[in-house]
Amino acid sequence: MALIDANAPQTEPERQRYYMDLLRGVTAEREAAMGRPFTFHVETFGCQMNARDSEKLIGILVSCGMHETESERADLVLYNTCTVRDNADQRVYGRLGVLSGYKKENPDMLIGLCGCMAQEPSAVEKIRRSYGYVDLVFGTHNVYALAEILYHRMTSSGMLVEILKEAPGAVEDLPSERKYPFKSGVNVSYGCDNYCTYCIVPMVRGRERSRRAGEIVSEVERLATDGVVEVMLLGQNVNSYGHDLGDEVTFSQLLRRVEQVDGIRRIRFMTSHPKDLSPELIETMAQSEKICRHLHLPLQSGSTEVLRRMNRRYTKEQYLELADRLKEAMPDLALTTDIIVGFPGETEEDFLETMDVVRRVGYSSAFTFQYSIRTGTPAATWEQVPADVVTDRFGRLLKLVQEKAAVFCAAGAGQTLEALVEEADEKRAGYVTGRLGNNLMVHFPGDASLIGSIVPVHLDTARGFYYMGTRA
Ligand code: 5AD
Ligand code: SF4
Repeated sequence: MALIDANAPQTEPERQRYYMDLLRGVTAEREAAMGRPFTFHVETFGCQMNARDSEKLIGILVSCGMHETESERADLVLYNTCTVRDNADQRVYGRLGVLSGYKKENPDMLIGLCGCMAQEPSAVEKIRRSYGYVDLVFGTHNVYALAEILYHRMTSSGMLVEILKEAPGAVEDLPSERKYPFKSGVNVSYGCDNYCTYCIVPMVRGRERSRRAGEIVSEVERLATDGVVEVMLLGQNVNSYGHDLGDEVTFSQLLRRVEQVDGIRRIRFMTSHPKDLSPELIETMAQSEKICRHLHLPLQSGSTEVLRRMNRRYTKEQYLELADRLKEAMPDLALTTDIIVGFPGETEEDFLETMDVVRRVGYSSAFTFQYSIRTGTPAATWEQVPADVVTDRFGRLLKLVQEKAAVFCAAGAGQTLEALVEEADEKRAGYVTGRLGNNLMVHFPGDASLIGSIVPVHLDTARGFYYMGTRA
């Protein structure tokens, strides 16, 4: 860190609380000098993990007396970045360019970049070289230390870069500002041990570290007391939860404990790695009243040979068999997936195997990605598939995915299901938008007073990937 403060406590979270106090003072001074509130904006890129980290960042800033704003013309703008594919990086670089214009209008503006991109040395190098107006850069392992980092930056000058290579052990129990009062993500593990050959995540998020079950359950209890009805348990691979704790508690056992928490009505989780999805988990899901009938089960490829080179450790047949077992245990289960097109060496036959799995499983939706080279991963050095071939396959896959999603959606029309009302419908006045247990959305007449409640809704018509409904 740039400055040493001998008075700062050495233990966490006391140390962060100390810096939050100091930062509150600095913020007040700035506000007095400016004659207006000190504003901040946190922009999240990437996955649910980052969304949850952003809630923690916002919580810290709010408790330091800063005011959140939708506008990026703020006194502090933080980009919480993703680096899973190159286009995620490029989006951030583009937007940093826009911020430099705002900074010219407000020279005291602070620009920060944190999250996954910051864990990548080549990205940090590029920021130092070409984006000298960025004020602070910190990684995924020190989100909790925002107050300390920001305090030092606000009482000094120049770019402050603070990246930890390894997690110092998660610091929880700090403020967090939930985006929705009625639902929340809860981290069950951090990092990933799988080393898929295309993936940069283990490099930026580190080895897998599970939180103690008791700590997770206490957090869920606190959330329930606070009015949360739906929790999403988060980990890069929730199915291997607890392995690093010496198998003390399995993920199924954890789910059963979370299920006991009064007030929690819905439980979701992601992401599941097919290789670690146990029969015990299928049974737990099938028996549960609270675990939603939705499972995100990344396929990545339908070709056993490509899966082998991806280091996924399952075959096409094993995946299909798993999907069958899930559907058998829960006929109303919605399966969603991630698929990469154009992995190095993917042949037309390999691609047709992927199309075959998509046809057979009948996903309710699927995220499809063109393979993106990530420097430092094994696949980056392998022979690439020509871009025009990738584009062509991607188009064919997307069309099939959309057709199958529409079939899934249409099959659900006519039922009455419970929806958690999340927001007023952006497009239709007098309507609200609810999320069904199977993760599909339904729009129906209602007012904002319904937000946060779970209500039965009749699914009148299917519209491809969502429904129009009426309250039942
Ligand atoms: N190229 C394209 N897609 C990728 N994903 C991860 N790494 C890459 C990459 N290098 C996709 C996977 C993963 C999702 C989060 O992003 O499908 O499940
Ligand atoms: Fe992106 Fe992966 Fe980081 Fe999530 S964990 S933000 S997907 S790089």
